Amino acid sequence: MTTRVRTPTRVRTPLPPPVRRARLLTPPGVYAPQCDTALLTRALYREDIGDAAPVLDLGTGSGALAVAAARLGAEVTALDISWRAVLTTRVNAFLAGQSVTVRRRDLTSYLPRGPYELVVSNPPYVPSLSWEPPRRGAARAWDGGLDGRALVDRVCDVGARTLRTGGVLLIVHSALCGVDTTLSRLTGLGMDARVIDRELVPFGPVLRSRRAWLRRRDLIGEDEICEELVVIRAERS
Ligand SMILES: C[S@@+](CC[C@H](N)C(=O)[O-])C[C@H]1O[C@@H](n2cnc3c(N)ncnc32)[C@H](O)[C@@H]1O
Repeated sequence: MTTRVRTPTRVRTPLPPPVRRARLLTPPGVYAPQCDTALLTRALYREDIGDAAPVLDLGTGSGALAVAAARLGAEVTALDISWRAVLTTRVNAFLAGQSVTVRRRDLTSYLPRGPYELVVSNPPYVPSLSWEPPRRGAARAWDGGLDGRALVDRVCDVGARTLRTGGVLLIVHSALCGVDTTLSRLTGLGMDARVIDRELVPFGPVLRSRRAWLRRRDLIGEDEICEELVVIRAERS
């Protein structure tokens, strides 16, 4: 078998200055902002978000992206299945002096009304041992089902159905769950999709604990120690 060794050659500044300055509480059980959050935040800052533009954050966690979008002047709605995340985002928005509408919703069944100008999402995307993502517990923030795509696919669908014409979906996920699969899905949904950023990051504790299983599934090479994160931008035509 070929050995694919990946080394982190492009790990960059973790967060843009306005986000680094933000005070974000991340109590136990709520996803603390990481490289994926930072990549998506950078992408968000590159968008020309109009004043009071309706923005939707799917799987808001600590509210890092929701608060960042609100700072840019957007009118933000943030959704998460976890009550802890919902309450944390409310507190973080308050501490940042920003107004964010935060609701507890399960994305697998809920379809927001829209239309939105921008949808951002850092969904759970790690391939995990069972087909269904977990119903509870901290792993709900990262486990995306057997192929890692349970929530990724859903976010693509929700984005396509809730964006206005010309609206933009920004999604970050690992290459382990299939970049081409996401691009094809979005194209099939009538979106003009492309990768706008990528970064190699060392495996964290979750992927390190699954290395043998990921190797057996041929998702990683023998000595692989990094995963590639990608940010995909899709515009609704
Ligand atoms: C990787 S975390 C991202 C948190 C934050 N947006 C960030 O970038 O730091 C994914 C979030 O999705 C939420 N989530 C998982 N399954 C969900 C579902 N079915 N419906 C809504 N939110 C869900 C988790 O609770 C978690 O807060």
